[in-house]
Amino acid sequence: MRNNDVIDLIKNKYLNNNKTDVLNHVEDVASIAVKLAKAYDIDVDKIKLAALLHDISGIMTPKEMYDFAKARGLELDPAEEKYNALLHQRISRIIAQEDFDIIDSDILNAIECHTTLRKNASVYDKVIFIADKISWDQKGVPSCDDLLKYATIESLDEACYLYIKYQFDNNLLVMPHQWLIEAYEDLKKM
Ligand SMILES: [Fe+2]
Ligand SMILES: [Fe+2]
Repeated sequence: MRNNDVIDLIKNKYLNNNKTDVLNHVEDVASIAVKLAKAYDIDVDKIKLAALLHDISGIMTPKEMYDFAKARGLELDPAEEKYNALLHQRISRIIAQEDFDIIDSDILNAIECHTTLRKNASVYDKVIFIADKISWDQKGVPSCDDLLKYATIESLDEACYLYIKYQFDNNLLVMPHQWLIEAYEDLKKM
């Protein structure tokens, strides 16, 4: 299937499920991620697909995600057991693979860890992670403008590190996911 055909199918999936808000968000993430991809010299088409698919599981409720994960025999992190919505990154990967025939591991991995990142993250993982955070336009320090500045001019690693550090320093994580803890440890060493 051609790239543009896949993109149309993805957009229709959001629209047919009345998820215009999520579609707007993923398109926003895609435009930020494409800029970052050019700055970091990675594949623009791949990053665009990862961005558009990263929240595709938003068509399901957290309870449906939980049941889906259990039915597939996924091993759950305690944070995912308690906060089922955290599963959405892993479920989005499965939908990307099964419903949209994505086989590229750069795309699939970036979708799968876009909320928590993880240790040994690739540039694709970091671009989607940080583009998602910039798109949320949330308040606080580091502001999204700062993140974007770091990510585009200074360092993608630094942007990821500062974002996660902010979460831990301000006790914003009631129950941190193990992948996030490991990503933080990893980025501290860089
Ligand atoms: Fe997400
Ligand atoms: Fe997102």
